[in-house]
Amino acid sequence: MNPTNEKKLAIESVDFQNPNKYRVLKADDREELLQIHEEMKRSDDHQKFHIQPLSGLLNDPNGFSYLDGTWHLFYQWFPYDSIHGMKHWYHVSSNDLCTWKNEGVALKPDTMYDNHGVYSGSAMAIDSNLLLFYTGNHRDENFKRKPYQCLALMNSKQEVTKYAEPLILPSCDYTEHQRDPKILYDEKTQNFYILIGAQNKELKGRILVYSLSKESEHKELYARLCEDWEFRGELKVKGYEDFGYMWECPDLIRFEEKDMLVFCPQGLEAHGDRFQNIYQNGYLLGEMDFASLEFKVHTDFQEIDLGFDFYACQSCNSLQLQSTDILKSENHNAKNLSIGWLGLPDSNYPSDSQKWSGCMSLVRELELKAGKLYQKPPVSLQKLRNERIHLESSKHHLFEARPMEIELKDLNNRAIQMKIFKKNTQNNDDSGFEIMYDSDSGYFKIDRGHMDHVFHEQYGTRRQFFLPSGLESLQIFVDSSSIELFVNEGEFTLSSRVFPTKEENRIQIQSEFDIALDVWELSAISKEEFKL
Ligand code: FRU
Repeated sequence: MNPTNEKKLAIESVDFQNPNKYRVLKADDREELLQIHEEMKRSDDHQKFHIQPLSGLLNDPNGFSYLDGTWHLFYQWFPYDSIHGMKHWYHVSSNDLCTWKNEGVALKPDTMYDNHGVYSGSAMAIDSNLLLFYTGNHRDENFKRKPYQCLALMNSKQEVTKYAEPLILPSCDYTEHQRDPKILYDEKTQNFYILIGAQNKELKGRILVYSLSKESEHKELYARLCEDWEFRGELKVKGYEDFGYMWECPDLIRFEEKDMLVFCPQGLEAHGDRFQNIYQNGYLLGEMDFASLEFKVHTDFQEIDLGFDFYACQSCNSLQLQSTDILKSENHNAKNLSIGWLGLPDSNYPSDSQKWSGCMSLVRELELKAGKLYQKPPVSLQKLRNERIHLESSKHHLFEARPMEIELKDLNNRAIQMKIFKKNTQNNDDSGFEIMYDSDSGYFKIDRGHMDHVFHEQYGTRRQFFLPSGLESLQIFVDSSSIELFVNEGEFTLSSRVFPTKEENRIQIQSEFDIALDVWELSAISKEEFKL
C-alpha cells in the first residue's frame, strides 16, 4: 500500500469512531456549537483576516458568485468537530472581497439524495436568485455511494429551496466518484454547461460535460436549469488521459486570450520539486471548444500554488460581471477571481484537537500576462492595513510577528533569508518558517521543518522552485496560523498553514545587501457573528 492510502485509511478509521460523524445540524445544537466557536476565538491559532469555520471543519470553497453588489461564498462545513463528517454548506457574504459576514447554514444533508453530505459545487446568479449546484452524496443501506448532482435556489431573502429531484443521476459508465458540479455559461455556444469531476472504470481522473438541451430552448430558463441537462461526453484533454486516479473540483476560467482548465488530480507521484503535497490543485492553459468537447492544451500542468496547503480553488461565477465589467470599475484589476482552501484532504492539522480546522485563502485576482498566470490579492485588502511602518535599508531586521502584511520591493535579484515566527531567544538558532532566495542558483525555498509544531513531514518540510525571472518583489501575509506569499507581483504564490507557539513570535530578515521594507499590521476582517 502506498503511504497516501495508508495515511488515508488511518485517518478514516479514527473519523469513523467519532460519534458526531453523521450528525445533521439541528436548532438544539446551538449551545454546543457556540461553545466550540468561543473556544476557537480564544485559540492562538484563530485567524484574524481569513474566512474560517463557525465551528468544526471547513474545506472547499463552494458557490463563489456575485449578485447585485455582493459576493457570496459558501464553504464545505462539518459543524461538530475537526473531521470530515456530514458536510453542509455555510454561507458568508462580502461587499468588498475583504471583510466577510457570516450568513448562516445554507444547505443541510436532509434529503434522501444527500443523506451522506451536501458535497461541493458552484452557484450562478440568475435574476435576483442564486442557483446552488451541488453533489448530493447518497449512501444506500449497504453503504454504497451514489452521487447525485442537485440544485437549490436561494432567493434575495436568503431562503433556500432544494429542487425535489436531482438534475443529473449517477452515470453507470463511471465509478462512484462523480462530483463537484461547476456551472458556467459559454458566450460562443450561448449555452449553460456543468463540468463534473469523475473517475472512469479504469480508475483514471476525468471531467464530464453536461449542457442544457437545445430542444428545450423555448422553455423558461429556470425550468430548463432544473430538468433539461444532457450528458455531452467526456472532456478530451490530450496528453492527460493517464494523470491521476480522480479529478476533483473542475473549473474553467476564461481570459481574453486563453482559457484555463483547473482541477485537482489525485494520485500523482511527486516528481523532482513538483507535486510534493498529498494532492495537487493545478491548471492547464489552452482553448476550450465545447462543440468538439476538447480542451486544446497549450501549456503543461502547473500547480496553482507552490506552498504546503492549497486545494479546491474555485473561480467566481457571474453573468453580471461578464456583462458590466464591474470588477474593473470597482478598482479591481482583474475580471477573474478565485479562492482556495488553505488545507488538504486526508490530512490532520495541529489545531484539530480544538474541534475546528481549516480556513480559506485570501481572494485572488487572476490575470494572464504574456501567456502567464498572475495571482494577486484584491486591492480592497488594503482596507485592513493599519499605519504603515517603513523599515529603513538594513542588512538585518527583527520585529514582532503579528497578523500583518510585509512588502519588499525592488529586490533586484538579491539573495534574502527570512524567518517568520522565529523564536524569541538570544541564540542564533534556526527556528521559524524559513523563506529563502538564493540568487546564485535562482531557487526560491520555504521550509517549515524548524517550527515547534512540525506536521505532514511524510510529504517533506520544504518546497522549492526555480525563479526564471529572478526575485523582484515579495508580498507576505502573515496571519495567526498561515503565511501566504506573492512573489513578483503574483507570478508565483506559496500558501501554507503554520502553527507557532507563544515563543515563536519574531520575524527576522537578513541579506548581504541593505533592504528596506514596509510593514502594516492588519485588522480583523469581521466580528464573526455566531449565526447558524
Ligand atoms: C475536495 C472534496 C470534493 C468533495 C468535497 C467533500 O476536497 O473531496 O471532491 O465534493 O471535498 O467535502
